[in-house]
Amino acid sequence: MKVYIISDIHLLAPGETSKGLDTAARFDLALNDLAENHADSDLCVLLGDLADHGAEPAYRQLESRLKDIKVPVRVLIGNHDDRDTFRAVFPNLAADEHGFVHSVLDTAKGRLIFLDTFEPDYVNGHLCEKRLAWLSARLTEAADRPVYIFMHHPPFEIGMRVDAINMRDAAAFRACLTSHGDVRQIVAGHTHRTCSGVWQGLPFINVGAVHYNQGVKFTGTAGPVPRYLFPVFTSIMLLGDDSLVVHHQDVSTNRIQLPVQLFPEQRIQEIIARGGRISA
Ligand SMILES: [Fe+2]
Repeated sequence: MKVYIISDIHLLAPGETSKGLDTAARFDLALNDLAENHADSDLCVLLGDLADHGAEPAYRQLESRLKDIKVPVRVLIGNHDDRDTFRAVFPNLAADEHGFVHSVLDTAKGRLIFLDTFEPDYVNGHLCEKRLAWLSARLTEAADRPVYIFMHHPPFEIGMRVDAINMRDAAAFRACLTSHGDVRQIVAGHTHRTCSGVWQGLPFINVGAVHYNQGVKFTGTAGPVPRYLFPVFTSIMLLGDDSLVVHHQDVSTNRIQLPVQLFPEQRIQEIIARGGRISA
């Protein structure tokens, strides 16, 4: 199973820019990569911060592009979004009975759970009692299957200043996941930083942003955190029966290739045919 992940898009009204960046054009780079190189994806996940200021014109921009995506799409919201405005533009997208933009997708590889960590007036993420109860019920239903969690705010820390605005309620969330026992991966965005690791025994990946990305500046280090115009990141998950691989792709350089073929195709095929042996 192949899942194409796009995070932190930060769309605005047509013609507007965020931090000087044309986020719609950057989103289009990701969508072009999806269409040209990963049209066989089983799913595309938009991991929140769809809009820069949660305004309707930004969601209309998103709406116009969702029509052209040829694979199934799941959409999450982040702290830059506005749940009410989002749901007004997309009344038919998945949500739970309380209006939280939660959903599940049952696949041959396990249950994918999509969480809504948005909280009005907070940069941090939240999972209130209602949301934790919903998650607990969905985990119980999938007691016999692996589970993969998708959410905007990381419950884990990455050693940078952004940790101060990650998800609150992380202990309660962790306890909820512990009750299941086979959570294979947590996938989050929000930090505008690509990294991976293990949080309290659970593997995680942090997907980089379509918007600017942050350089490594660990907490306690003097000076501002560097923010970079490039790359424009997306991530691609390959879920196997006993494996999970995540590729991180800079879609801004897709069309820039070396002018000569360093490894002639015939030579590669000969080596493969010899089982990796360089010479005949
Ligand atoms: Fe963001």
